[in-house]
Amino acid sequence: MLRRLHADQPDSFAFTPENLKWAEGQMTKYPEGRQASAIIPLLWRAQEQEGWLTRPAIEEVARMLDLAYIRALEVASFYFMFQLQPVGSVAHIQVCGTLSCMICGAEDLVAVCKEKIAANPHELSADGKFSWEEVECLGSCANAPMAQIGKDYYEDLTAARMGEIIDELAAGKVPTPGPQNGRYAAEPLKGLTSLKDYDSGKTQYNASVQLATDIGDTVKRIDGTEVPILTPWQDSGETVKDRPAQTPPKPAKAKKLAEKNAPRPAKDTPANGSGVTEQQADAASKAKPVGKSNPGTSPEATGPESKPETLTTARAEGADDLKRISGVGPKLEQTLNDLGFYHFDQIAAWTQDEIQWVDNRLKFKGRIVRDNWIAQATDLAKA
Ligand code: FES
Repeated sequence: MLRRLHADQPDSFAFTPENLKWAEGQMTKYPEGRQASAIIPLLWRAQEQEGWLTRPAIEEVARMLDLAYIRALEVASFYFMFQLQPVGSVAHIQVCGTLSCMICGAEDLVAVCKEKIAANPHELSADGKFSWEEVECLGSCANAPMAQIGKDYYEDLTAARMGEIIDELAAGKVPTPGPQNGRYAAEPLKGLTSLKDYDSGKTQYNASVQLATDIGDTVKRIDGTEVPILTPWQDSGETVKDRPAQTPPKPAKAKKLAEKNAPRPAKDTPANGSGVTEQQADAASKAKPVGKSNPGTSPEATGPESKPETLTTARAEGADDLKRISGVGPKLEQTLNDLGFYHFDQIAAWTQDEIQWVDNRLKFKGRIVRDNWIAQATDLAKA
């Protein structure tokens, strides 16, 4: 199948403010100079926001990652999970057509899609609400035949149920995902044959379906205001049953909740081997960079800083490969060299105030503490 950009493209693309913040957060996960590694999550977020990947969206992601446009286009056109043409405004239905599903009736499901949506895959229905395609195995073979709709799996399907699901979605309802034949998960059709007494503290649905139902956003576009899915409740040890409501909290409440439940070291306890506490790191990350004309202490910084001893050039034995510190890439190594740091032992000797001084001169704050440069450099200096 040819993977080409759609002929009709919008004039522009912009992430919503929330999605932009999320995307920028993803970019800081990678070492300086390697932000391009964030391309898949950023393209995916753009697609979740718009439903499909537009040319302006690919261009915007390339711009954010400082990538040539062709590089971003290569990724977008390589992976079939990226939709390069408009999909249904309500749902894009992906019917698995691989072996197990094919044997169990995938062709019947495709026939329903052809009848109710459009004759051809990737073709919009007359009302623009639906589109469909056949995809390769989605890993739910024990519940064949199945289809992915939006973010969820609808399993143990029949042609009749497939038709009902499309009708329900068209009517604005979100059918409960998971097995559609009464099975809880992937147990034998005639019921459990082992572990019969196992009390799993069952929720109404199996874990995937329960989470999908609780979040309630199966076919909803991501606009950044959703409750974080992996935090906070999973980290806090709550069970699904403890989760409040089907209605996601408002953004401000969700943010508060995430902050409240995020794992944190005790006050004034170092988060890692650097000896710097979270409170100090916080203060450091909020400090404004000082101008080059004032390399000493900065009255603007919220935490004290002092300039470490620097070198004008590497010692006679040659500069250490600072890229061996996890989190330091070629660009960051160059920045460190420019600041006068060439050797692991220099970095290993930084005091807290000196960490603050260096941090104030890096593009992404908090990296030294987060990636534990001091401990890493100490080990490397000994090697
Ligand atoms: Fe359909 Fe694996 S064959 S999910």
